[in-house]
Amino acid sequence: MYYKFVLAILFLFFVLQLQPIKAQDTLSTFADLVPFVTTPDEVVDAMLELAKVDRTDRIIDLGSGDGRIPIRAAVLFGTHGIGVEIDAGLVEEAIINAKKEGVSHLVDFVQGDLFEMDFSEATVLTLYLFPDINLKLRPKILQMKSGTRIVSHRFDMGDWEPDETRKIVLPDGKEHLIFMWRIQ
Ligand SMILES: C[S@@+](CC[C@H](N)C(=O)[O-])C[C@H]1O[C@@H](n2cnc3c(N)ncnc32)[C@H](O)[C@@H]1O
Repeated sequence: MYYKFVLAILFLFFVLQLQPIKAQDTLSTFADLVPFVTTPDEVVDAMLELAKVDRTDRIIDLGSGDGRIPIRAAVLFGTHGIGVEIDAGLVEEAIINAKKEGVSHLVDFVQGDLFEMDFSEATVLTLYLFPDINLKLRPKILQMKSGTRIVSHRFDMGDWEPDETRKIVLPDGKEHLIFMWRIQ
């Protein structure tokens, strides 16, 4: 009887110990989480211009926050877009913003981990993440279709030489760098 009790305790111990480890295998770690900081509107417009986005593109924003990048592309050019965002509250906000701008039929926002996302269908991929996350994305980015443009606000891709770089100076004097790579 006593040994059954000990076995039950051991079983519970292992189940409770293993659960968090399993979760971390599939989701990004906390170190990967980038805080929500918005790309200013002028910089969003410059990113879309640099990538020469038009209505035939399919834009995907990894870590889409309040949805401003896909929403702006839909408003300006009628581009179809998707945003993936880990924070459910921000996904709700993006859906409301798309409705306000009248582009709900063009954009989708999904709650999830960008590392789990299949973004191979994008012709334009936008990023405002962290340098180490950009580096982790490189193997998947390399498999994207020829002609796909990757546009990153602020952070580069390590030793990948950008095809174009632009510096935007806002009225408050703050400087914003944008990098663009075209998949060969
Ligand atoms: C710096 S903000 C950029 C927001 C928006 N793309 C923009 O440029 O205004 C980064 C966003 O990525 C989200 N994020 C961080 N880690 C993520 C992950 N692993 N999967 C999906 N979204 C993530 C954050 O919640 C945040 O909203």
